Amino acid sequence: MRELLGSATLGNFSEALDEALRQQASRLHAPDSRKSDKGLRRFTIREMADIAFRMNYNTLRHHLKAIEGLPEGEMESGNRRTFSLEEIHEIQQRLYEAGKISNDMYPGKHEGDETTKILCYNLKGGVSKTTCSANLAQFLAMRGFKVLIVDLDPQASCSDLFDIQADLDNIASIYDVLRYEEQSSGDARVPIADAIQATYFPNIDIIPGSISLTEFEYETATAAAQGIPFYSRISDALSVVEDAYDVVIFDTPPHMSFCVIAALYASNAMLIPLSAGMLDVVSLVKFLDLASSTLESIEGVDPDKRFDFVRLLLTRYSPNDPAQLQLSSFLRNTLGNSMLNTDFLNSTAIADAGNTMNPCSRSIRQASPARLMTAFWKACMALPWRLSGKS
Ligand SMILES: Nc1ncnc2c1ncn2[C@@H]1O[C@H](COP(=O)(O)OP(=O)(O)OP(=O)(O)O)[C@@H](O)[C@H]1O
Ligand SMILES: [Mg+2]
Repeated sequence: MRELLGSATLGNFSEALDEALRQQASRLHAPDSRKSDKGLRRFTIREMADIAFRMNYNTLRHHLKAIEGLPEGEMESGNRRTFSLEEIHEIQQRLYEAGKISNDMYPGKHEGDETTKILCYNLKGGVSKTTCSANLAQFLAMRGFKVLIVDLDPQASCSDLFDIQADLDNIASIYDVLRYEEQSSGDARVPIADAIQATYFPNIDIIPGSISLTEFEYETATAAAQGIPFYSRISDALSVVEDAYDVVIFDTPPHMSFCVIAALYASNAMLIPLSAGMLDVVSLVKFLDLASSTLESIEGVDPDKRFDFVRLLLTRYSPNDPAQLQLSSFLRNTLGNSMLNTDFLNSTAIADAGNTMNPCSRSIRQASPARLMTAFWKACMALPWRLSGKS
């Protein structure tokens, strides 16, 4: 007895869920209409010292008193002084100019530095790729780096976290930047600068993903048959804007696609999030094999292709679970320093942030930065290059 038209059934599910989600969002964010309307919360002097400047708390307090004309922040209940992130970055700039922050600890590219382009990738779904991309971006942005996220996942979860929805808001997505003009139905390709959206988080811009990214795959197959190269599609587009950023982070879908290959070609660093389960490690082997042969073909096109760093990060890690503990030391013994020595802990703060569709720095209204710091930001600090300052 087949009475249901599949397309209509799935379409109805989609409409019903979409409507329910909108209603839920408007309840959740009332009196604002969107979660980004509230903007980012303010930070205490201790947070400024620990997270943004990575400076001793008492030293920072001393500088704040000694240097004239710095932003004073606002006094909140409990006699706590708080600062907006913009104020924090202004203070950082002034302290740097006054010689109180060393060159090494001052964020940003130094002369001759290339923009770091990090591919956050693993074939496996649900291993925290998006969570890592969003949190790494926030950590770096708090430190004062200028970050561009490129959301290459048609599910566009990272864009959702930052409250930028290309499909809903009818704005350009990365697909519109990468599309093949000659094959499209009349719509011109969008210049990359026009697809960049500022987010509510200072120092973080994003080029949103959209479901239309799936079309890029079909179009690429046809274009490749006509001899149009696709490898350099992302790097060519990015070259126009990347100088304005210290770090570009690619959030990727849980599969190998033309888009991911173009991102591999465009990136110069790789972060591989990995869950601490035996099956995850088994599929990691297959993933590494596939990534290695894909890179081999990229190296055939560009023999100079190099990565500044490739690091694996254990995610959703519970150190109290003996099986995970064992697996973690197995991975460290086998992969050595390529495994970041600080894991991304399983954390209710992070899970809650996902559940309420808030990137975690917004949810630190409920979860203290100290918890987030332990959960992930410590791992960010373990990254090489001057991304994070001294650890
Ligand atoms: N450290 C953590 N502690 C607790 N929950 C986490 C943690 N990291 C991620 N999560 C949760 O796990 C789920 C999957 O995470 P995420 O979406 O980042 O994975 P993903 O690899 O991007 O998934 P996909 O392959 O679908 O793109 C989310 O609900 C997220 O909130
Ligand atoms: Mg994801």
